[in-house]
Amino acid sequence: MNIILIGFRGTGKTVAGMLVAKRLGWEFIDADDYLEEKTGKDIVTIFEEGGEKSFRQTEESVIAELCAPGHKVIAAGGGAVLSKKNVENMKNGGLVILLEADTDTIYERLKSDPKTRSQRPRLTDRDLYDEIVHLLEYRRKYYDKAADFRVDTSRLTPEEAAREIITAFEERSSG
Ligand code: S3P
Repeated sequence: MNIILIGFRGTGKTVAGMLVAKRLGWEFIDADDYLEEKTGKDIVTIFEEGGEKSFRQTEESVIAELCAPGHKVIAAGGGAVLSKKNVENMKNGGLVILLEADTDTIYERLKSDPKTRSQRPRLTDRDLYDEIVHLLEYRRKYYDKAADFRVDTSRLTPEEAAREIITAFEERSSG
C-alpha cells in the first residue's frame, strides 16, 4: 500500500512526505518533480505552452503510473483531485491522506517557497490571497471526497505532521 498525500499548494505535502518516507524506509516521489523530469519542462512552461488542460493530461498519466501497487510515499499536486480518474487511481493505490492548512499559512508558505516560481503558475486572475480563498472553497468537496484521513499542518512542524501521517497509516494497516 502506498501513502498518497493530497491537499492544496503549501500544505506541506513534500516536506512531510519526505520525512515519512525516510522514517518508513520507503521511496518518496513528488508527482510534480517526476512530471517535470519526464517531460523535461517545468510546470510553468507546460502551462505557457499548452495551458492547464495539457498539464492536467500529463498529470493523469503520472498519477496512474505512480499509484501502481508498491510502498512509496507520493505527494500529488494540489489540483490532482479534480480528476475523477486520478482519485480512482489514488484510492486503488493506497491510503489517501489530506493535508490542510489555513489560508494565511498557505499564503505565507507559497510566498517564501522557491518552488512557487517554476512549479506554481497562477490559476486565476485574482491576486494570490484571493486565489487561495477562492480555490480552497471550490476544491473543498474534491479534497473531502478523496481523503481517507486528514491532518491540519497549520500549527505542526513537519516532523509532527509526519508522525501523524505515520500513525494514521499504522492504524489503517493494522486494522
Ligand atoms: C497545482 C499545484 C501544484 C502543481 C501545479 C498545479 C494546483 O502542486 O501541481 O502548479 O492546481 O493546485 P503543489 O500542490 O505541489 O504546489
